[in-house]
Amino acid sequence: MSVELSFDDGLAFVTLNRPEALNALSFSVLGEIAEALDEVKASDARALVISGRGEKALCAGADIKELTGRGLVAQRQGAQLGQAVFQKIDGLLIPSVAVIKGYAFGGGLEMALACTFRVATSSAKMGLPEIRLGLIPGYGGTQRLPRIVGQSRALELIMSGKTIGATDAERIGLVNAVVDDGEAHELGAQFVRQFTGHGKIALMLAKQAVERAFDSPLEKGLLVEADLSTLAFQTEDAEEGMRAFIEKRKPAFKDR
Ligand code: CAA
Repeated sequence: MSVELSFDDGLAFVTLNRPEALNALSFSVLGEIAEALDEVKASDARALVISGRGEKALCAGADIKELTGRGLVAQRQGAQLGQAVFQKIDGLLIPSVAVIKGYAFGGGLEMALACTFRVATSSAKMGLPEIRLGLIPGYGGTQRLPRIVGQSRALELIMSGKTIGATDAERIGLVNAVVDDGEAHELGAQFVRQFTGHGKIALMLAKQAVERAFDSPLEKGLLVEADLSTLAFQTEDAEEGMRAFIEKRKPAFKDR
């Protein structure tokens, strides 16, 4: 198997395991990622950590050796497959984090862009080099990168194909944090632990509400926020959270 799935202490871990090809995304790897994500969706995990085996790369992108010589129809289907798989990450109700150790290029960075958050070790290198291959990103990069870093910075990265390091990535908001080197699962787990102690329903509603900011005019988005915040208000967790504040104790959320 080129993709491993494990669960530990309330977290799901999807790990690319093809280090000999820098975890490149062959079509069979994409299929395995999709299967793993279906299991994550059906599980009671509170957050997902995506990482890659080996010290050299989270993922070096689409498998270039598989791409050469393909017809246009097959190529379009391939792009839509990659998009659909990464949409499964984006569509999860729980938060996800990609741990960028080493390289995250092309489809590998696009996979990370589909996560709620990204962390990078200080030596990480990332970019969308497709233009250097005569291509443009096809697994969501042209749509997600501008939503994360803004149009101008996204175009700079996509049109130059340049590689940037972790510090610059953090400066432009491409990664949430630069973390000390360490074991990838642990780095991801440490990052998501700042959320997972909160009530799961409130976390899900916060994610949904913020996502609507990008596909709705402000007035509609505000209506969605009014609805979702009222939904949060109706949960047992909200009652517990507010009571715990008044009683000066830590809340005990039950995800209800
Ligand atoms: N596809 C297939 N195989 C790849 C690969 C990829 N994207 N990236 C690396 N590999 C393979 C190499 O062919 C090599 O295999 P062999 O030992 O059998 O030759 C092995 O992984 C190790 O790679 P390198 O020897 O190249 O390692 P390096 O340390 O010298 O360089 C690198 C690392 C700079 C990341 C370099 O491998 C590289 O530039 N890779 C391609 C990055 C890239 O262009 N990604 C975009 C792909 S297109 C895409 O993703 C389109 C999209 O939108 C979905």
